Amino acid sequence: MPGAVRRTRTQVGIVGAGPAGLLLSHLLARRGIDSVVAELRSREYCEARQRAGVLEQGSADLLRAAGLGARLDAEGLEHAGIYLQFGGERRHLDFRELAGRTVTVYAQTEVVKDLIAARLAAGAAIEFGVTGTEVADLETERPVLRFTAADGTPHEVTCDVIAGCDGFHGICRAAIPAARQRVSEREYPYAWLGILARVPPSTDELIYAHHPRGFALHSLRSPAVSRLYLQVPPGTDLADWPDDRVWAELQTRLGLPGWELAQGPVLEKSITPMRSYVSEPMRAGRLFLAGDAAHIVPPTGAKGLNLALADVAVLAEALGALLTEGRAGLADAYSDTCLARVWRSTHFSWWMTTMLHPTPGADAMEAQLQLAQLRYVTTSRAAAASLAENYTGYPPRLPGLPG
Ligand code: FAD
Ligand code: PHB
Repeated sequence: MPGAVRRTRTQVGIVGAGPAGLLLSHLLARRGIDSVVAELRSREYCEARQRAGVLEQGSADLLRAAGLGARLDAEGLEHAGIYLQFGGERRHLDFRELAGRTVTVYAQTEVVKDLIAARLAAGAAIEFGVTGTEVADLETERPVLRFTAADGTPHEVTCDVIAGCDGFHGICRAAIPAARQRVSEREYPYAWLGILARVPPSTDELIYAHHPRGFALHSLRSPAVSRLYLQVPPGTDLADWPDDRVWAELQTRLGLPGWELAQGPVLEKSITPMRSYVSEPMRAGRLFLAGDAAHIVPPTGAKGLNLALADVAVLAEALGALLTEGRAGLADAYSDTCLARVWRSTHFSWWMTTMLHPTPGADAMEAQLQLAQLRYVTTSRAAAASLAENYTGYPPRLPGLPG
């Protein structure tokens, strides 16, 4: 039988301890604002979930400015470019030269570990393993967050604001009436099969490969661990992809004369569907959505994690002004401020995805258009600079925006 409801009070109730929820809690604490974070999964699960790997320069700078740079600087790998491979050739784009910026390879798992460690060291309230999360009274100045803690105690937290940082499958977006949301969505007719392997990377920079058999990506996690992806049909069963088949297909799509892909033990294997999704506005009353709760991009542009971090940087500032000084302007502008960046990244991710993935069943025209575009971005300085500017990311505020 459930015990008595434990009623508490906080300024910001945060649903989800992914990168968005954790960084928001951390940035708010630095402004003297308290929060409670409710997370469905265990701490171990959150710290092990394999996802993104590339931080834009602005994201790395944001983490450093928030006091989270120690391990990032010690273990993160600065990358000043990528390779684009197509038509049997591998061409390099030099981001430092083209855009004056770089990216850092530092896995989402490590960002999450750093954030959880920092929050717990500061005595923060993170409830892992909750069930029955609900948000209510969103149109009032005292919205309520309810959940049942891992020990079975029902909690009711009265808040000033609720932040929905609960990812694409969370409950917060669904709490906004459909009539007040505009949803833009595109599903792609392919998915990514990803592996994490204990083997030194066979490359110094990421390789994005266009191949008639499908896209492939060689990424990495550390000097000893590689991360690789293959385009596969949606609904692919991992049982059909034993390790030998994955390595053989990666070698076919990434291989060039004189270049071999090194193989090693596969530590993890998973399938990721590919989707573009934006729900607007990112606010309803006292509920603010951030990260994947509001938008999803296909991973080809390496933008998902970066967007989540950028959203909460804007939100922390807006909530600081609202809750400590009673100024509502930044909170009122929150959705528009974030959506400008979200749509830029949504376009870039769609553009990279459709340039690099052969659509199953497409005619020869599509392949020729893709190859023409790949030749253009690797030979025109203007086109290469545009890719570099988008990939390495924009400054925290896009020009011409409110706030
Ligand atoms: P999430 O990381 O999803 O965090 C949301 C949190 O909310 C989770 O911890 C979840 O358990 C919790 N939650 C959900 N429901 C509830 C509830 N009811 N109550 C309480 N808590 C709840 N991006 C890239 O750039 N490259 C990649 O290779 C890449 N791979 C990905 C693979 C997968 C399978 C997925 C799903 C995403 C991937 N992404 C990738 C995207 C990137 O990882 C996300 O954009 C990023 O995790 C967004 O962070 P977030 O904090 O908004 O959401
Ligand atoms: C990754 O390392 O997981 C990764 C890197 C670049 C991408 C997507 C995923 O575009």
